[in-house]
Amino acid sequence: MCGIIGYTGSENAREVLLDALELLEYRGYDSAGVAVKEAGSGKTVVRRCAGRVRDLRKLCETETHFSGCGIGHTRWATHGGVSDVNAHPHQAGSVTLVHNGIIENYRELIADYGLEGKLRSETDSEVVAALLDYFYEGNPQEAVQKTVGRLKGTFALVVMFEDRRDAIYAVRNVSPVVATLCEQGAMLASDLTALCRFTNRYFVLPEYQVLELRKDGVTLWDPDGKVMEPEYQTVDWELNSSGKNGYPFYMEKEIMEQPGAVTRTIEGRIRGGMPDFSADGVPDTLFTDCERICVIACGTAMHAGLVAQALVKSVLHMHIEVEMASEFMYSDPVIDEKTLVIAVSQSGETIDTLEAVKYARLRGAKCLSVINVRGSSIARESDYVIYTSAGPEIAVASTKAYTTQLAVFYLIVARMAHSRGIFTEEETQCFIRELQRTPETIRDVLARRREVHVLAKKVLAAKDLFMIGRGLDHSILLEGSLKLKEVSYIHSEAYASGELKHGPIALITQDTPVVASVTQDKLMSKELSNIREVASRGADVAVFVKDSLAKELEDYELFRLPDMRDEFMVMPASVALQLLAYYVSSDKGFDVDKPRNLAKVVTVE
Ligand code: F6R
Repeated sequence: MCGIIGYTGSENAREVLLDALELLEYRGYDSAGVAVKEAGSGKTVVRRCAGRVRDLRKLCETETHFSGCGIGHTRWATHGGVSDVNAHPHQAGSVTLVHNGIIENYRELIADYGLEGKLRSETDSEVVAALLDYFYEGNPQEAVQKTVGRLKGTFALVVMFEDRRDAIYAVRNVSPVVATLCEQGAMLASDLTALCRFTNRYFVLPEYQVLELRKDGVTLWDPDGKVMEPEYQTVDWELNSSGKNGYPFYMEKEIMEQPGAVTRTIEGRIRGGMPDFSADGVPDTLFTDCERICVIACGTAMHAGLVAQALVKSVLHMHIEVEMASEFMYSDPVIDEKTLVIAVSQSGETIDTLEAVKYARLRGAKCLSVINVRGSSIARESDYVIYTSAGPEIAVASTKAYTTQLAVFYLIVARMAHSRGIFTEEETQCFIRELQRTPETIRDVLARRREVHVLAKKVLAAKDLFMIGRGLDHSILLEGSLKLKEVSYIHSEAYASGELKHGPIALITQDTPVVASVTQDKLMSKELSNIREVASRGADVAVFVKDSLAKELEDYELFRLPDMRDEFMVMPASVALQLLAYYVSSDKGFDVDKPRNLAKVVTVE
C-alpha cells in the first residue's frame, strides 16, 4: 500500500509532489511527507506529518524556495503507529528515502549492522535508509544494489543522496513503480494516475533494476550493472482524466462515468455482432480446452466473479469455483492444466491475487486476467490479459471497475458458449445485443438518481441493515452491501433470503431496515414471500425491482429498474445500489472517497 512519487525537472517539485500525493492518497492516508532539494543551496528539506495531504500542504505553506527535485509519500501504516516520526521520508546520514512494502528481516538488519542507536522511528523503512547510508560510498547504484541484496520482503524504494543534486534513484521487488521522461522532466510513482497529468507514456520499472532519474534523462541498470533500455508503453487514459470534473467526490464521478466505461470496454470486442478477443490475443483454444474454471479475486472484483459463476453455470453448465484470493493458497485448491484460471483485479497489484496467480500457473493452469491498469503486476504474471477500459478509478470504493469487469465476463461467457457449441451464432448475437443495451439501462438509473437519494435518507439512521435476495439477486446484494458498509459504516449483511429463516431472521426488528433486490422472473414469488416475512416483523423494506415485476410490490418503497434479460439485470441494479451507498455516506458528511482504515491498492497480505 502507500503512495510514492519522485520528480526532477523544470517545475517546482514541491507543488508537483503535493498534487500527485493528493491523487495517490487512495493508497493510504494516515500520514504524508515530502523531501525536496532547494535550488541554489541544494539543501534537502523534509516536511512530514500524521494526517492527510491537506495537512502536509499547510505545513509546507511557509516554504517559498524553488525546488526542482524531490520525493513524496502517503502512508498506510504497517510497522509503527500513525505519528509524525513514523511518517516518510526517512533520513539517515546522506540518504533520504520513501518506501512502499514490508521488510520482513528488519530486526536482523538492525542487529547485523549495529543500527539500533541510529533509528528514531518504529518503521522498517528507516532501517533501509540507515543500511543505504552504511553502504553509500559515492556510487548510488552500487549502494542500492548492495542494500537490496540484504532485504527480504516486498519493497519499492525511492531515494535521494545528499551529494546528488537533481537525481532520484529507485528499485523495487513486487511493489509497483512506473516512471517516465516527459517535457516537464522525469518522474516516477507507485501508480499511473500520478503521471497521467503529464503524459500517457510510461514504463514499468523491472524488479531489482536500479533506476536513476535526472531532469533530462533516465538510466536503468540490471543487477549486473548493465545499462538497460526502458520499455515504454502508452495508456489510453486521457490526460487529466483523474480530476473530479466538478463532482464533490470521485465516487459520484466514477458512478456517473459507467455508461461510457462499459461502452469502451465492449465496443472493440464485438465484430459482426459476435464477441471477439482477437485484438487481445486470446485464442479460442483457451475456452475450448478447459474442463473447469476458477476465478480468483478479492472484494468487489471477487463479487464480479460470483456473477460470472452464475452465468457459467446457467449458460455453459460448467464447473466453476470463485476463490477469495486471500484464502486460495491455504485451501488446497484443485488446479491443473485443464483449469482456466481467471484473475480479476482493478489495480492489477493486489498481492493476494498476484500470489494466487503465480501458484496456479506453477500447477499448470493457464491464467487469463481481467485488469484495469495496463502493465500492472498481475497482468505481467498472466498468460493472457483482457483490459477493462474504466479509466483511472480513484475513489477507494470500486464502482466502474466492477461494471466493466462484469461486461468482460458477459463477453467471455458468450464467446465460450459459441466456441463450445452451446450457443448458435444467432443466440450469441442475441446475448451480445442485450449486453450492448446495458449502457442505456445504466444511464436510465443515473437519470433517476434522485429517487435513490430519497430511499437513502430512510436508512441514514440505521445501525444494522439486511440486504436480501436469491440467486443473482444475492450476488448483486453482496456487492451492494460491501459498498454500503465501506463508505457509510452501517453494518450491512447480504443474505440469501431463503436462508433468513435458518437463523438471522431473529435479528429483524423495526430498527433493522431491509433492502431487497427482485430482478429475476423465476424467483419472484419466493422473493416476495421472503419480503413479506421481514415486513411482518416490523422491518421497513426498500425494493430494487425490475420494472415488469413491480406490480406485486407496490406496498413497499420501490426503485424501478429498467427491464433487461434476467442475467443482465445485475448491471442497472448494481449501479442503483452504488448510488444508495454513495448518498448515505455523503448525507452523513463522510469523506466518501477515503473511508477509514482502507486503501485502494492492497499490497500487503
Ligand atoms: C471495494 C474495493 C475492494 C477491491 C479489492 C480488490 O470497493 O474496492 O474490495 O475490490 O481490494 O482490488 P483490486 O480489484 O484492485 O484487486
